[in-house]
Amino acid sequence: MDTFPQNFLWGAAASAPQTEGAALVDGKSPSTWDKWFEIEPELFYNGTGPENTSNTYYQYKEDVACMKAMNLNSYRTSIAWTRLLPDGKTLNPQAVDFYRAYFQEMLDNGIEPIINLFHFDMPWWLMEKGGWEVRESVDHFAFYAKTAFEAFGDLVKKWATFNESLVHIECGYMGDAHWPKVHDFKRAIQVAYHTLLAHAKAVKEYRRSSFNDGQISIILNLAPVYSKSEEAEDVAAAKWADLFYIRSFLDCAVRGTFPEELVEVLRESDLLPKTETGDKEIFAENTVDFIGCNYYQPLRVQAPQEKKRPITGLRDLFRGYDWPEKRINPHRGWEIYPRGIYDIAMRLKNSYSNIPWYISENGIGVSQEERFNNKENMIDDNYRIDFLFEHLTQLQQAISEGSPCFGYHMWTFADCWSWLNAYKNRYGFYRVDLDNGYKRLPKQSSLWMAQVIAENRLVEPFAQNSSSH
Ligand code: BG6
Repeated sequence: MDTFPQNFLWGAAASAPQTEGAALVDGKSPSTWDKWFEIEPELFYNGTGPENTSNTYYQYKEDVACMKAMNLNSYRTSIAWTRLLPDGKTLNPQAVDFYRAYFQEMLDNGIEPIINLFHFDMPWWLMEKGGWEVRESVDHFAFYAKTAFEAFGDLVKKWATFNESLVHIECGYMGDAHWPKVHDFKRAIQVAYHTLLAHAKAVKEYRRSSFNDGQISIILNLAPVYSKSEEAEDVAAAKWADLFYIRSFLDCAVRGTFPEELVEVLRESDLLPKTETGDKEIFAENTVDFIGCNYYQPLRVQAPQEKKRPITGLRDLFRGYDWPEKRINPHRGWEIYPRGIYDIAMRLKNSYSNIPWYISENGIGVSQEERFNNKENMIDDNYRIDFLFEHLTQLQQAISEGSPCFGYHMWTFADCWSWLNAYKNRYGFYRVDLDNGYKRLPKQSSLWMAQVIAENRLVEPFAQNSSSH
C-alpha cells in the first residue's frame, strides 16, 4: 500500500496551558501550574513559567496560517478549564469569544479542531479542595464538559475528555513531576478512579448535549510493554505493567469495565478506591467512539526485586528494564522504537474490537536546535524527518493489515512550553523565536510533512545535509 487512507487526518497536537499564554488575563483563574510556578519558580527550566508560553491567545491567526501552509487538515488542542469557568461555575464570555474565534479560524482554513478538555491543568480552586482525590471533582468536571459542549459543540465534532489520564496520576501522586507531588499509591488509585469516572460522566454529558452529532474519545499513552525475557517472572511483570498502565484505562474507556485481575489485586491489598452505587453503570453505558493514542517510547520491564503480596506499590509487581540495545533521544532520555506504533495498532485492531483510533501524539524533542540553522536561517531538522518517516512506515504497515487508524498527529506544530522543561526541548514543525515576539519560523520538517500530506503518502526523507543529533 502506497497511499494513506482517504480523508486521513494529518495534523499536530498541543494543549492550552502549553501554548496559549495569557495565563492570568481576561478572567482566567490559576491552574496548579500557574500556582506551582509562583511557589517554586526555580524548578522550571530557565525560570520560564506558564504565564506566557507561546502566546497563541494573541497569535492564533498566525498559527492557523502556518498550519494551512503545511497542509494540516486537523489540529488538536485543549480548552483551559480555568479560562472557561474561572470559579468552576461562572461562564467567562471572553473565553467563549476566544475559543469560538480560534476554532472558527481553523474551520475557515480547512482544519478540523479536535478538542480536549483536560491536559494536566487542574484549577487551583479545585486543587485546594483536594483535586481528583475528592469525589466532588467528578461533578465539577462533568459540569465543565457540559458547558464546553454547549458553547462549542456546533464547531467541534471530535472531542477528547482527558489527555494521558495516567500521567497526572503517576507524576502527581507517585512522583514529583506534577503538583501536588504526593507519593502515596492508595491516593493515586483514588485519583485514577475519579479521573476515569469524570471521563465517563463527561461522555454521558456529551451524548445528551444539544450538539451530540460528533464523536468523543479519551487520549491515552499506550506505551507497549515488553518484558526483559521470556522467563515466566519477567513475562508476569510485563502483564502487571500492562494491566495497570494500559488495560485499566483502555478497558474502561472502550469496554466500560475494569479488568478482573486488577480489581482482585487491589482488593487483596486493601487498595480499592471508594466507589458509589451506580458508578458501574456509568462506566458501562459511556464508552468512547474512538481512541487517541500518544506514543513516544515503549515500556520495558522485568520481574520485581522482591515479589510481595499484598502489594504496596507497583514496585512489588514489576520494575523497569534498561534494554542495552535501545536507541535513545539523548535530549529527553526517551527510547526511539518505531515498531511500537505497529504493535499498538495491531493490538487495538485485534483486542479492542477494531475501534477507530488515531495517533494523537508522536514526536521528538531536541535541545538547542538553533545549532542546525542553515544559510536561509531555517532549522535543518532531518532527525525529525527520519523519526517521522520511520514511525509512519510502521503505521502504514499496520493500516495495510487492517488496523483502523484514521490519522496521525505530531507533537507538535510549533515549539511549545513543556511543563518543568519549559522551552528546553523543541518539538515543533515551526520554531518559536522567544526573543522575537514568539515569531513562528518553519523548519525543514514542515516542508517535508507538507509534501507527505499533499500526496497523502510517504515520501523519502530529504537528502541528508549537515544536521544530526
Ligand atoms: C506528552 C504530553 O506526554 O508528551 C505533552 O501530552 C508533553 O503535554 C509531551 O509536552 C512531550 O513531553 P515533554 O515532557 O518533553 O514536554
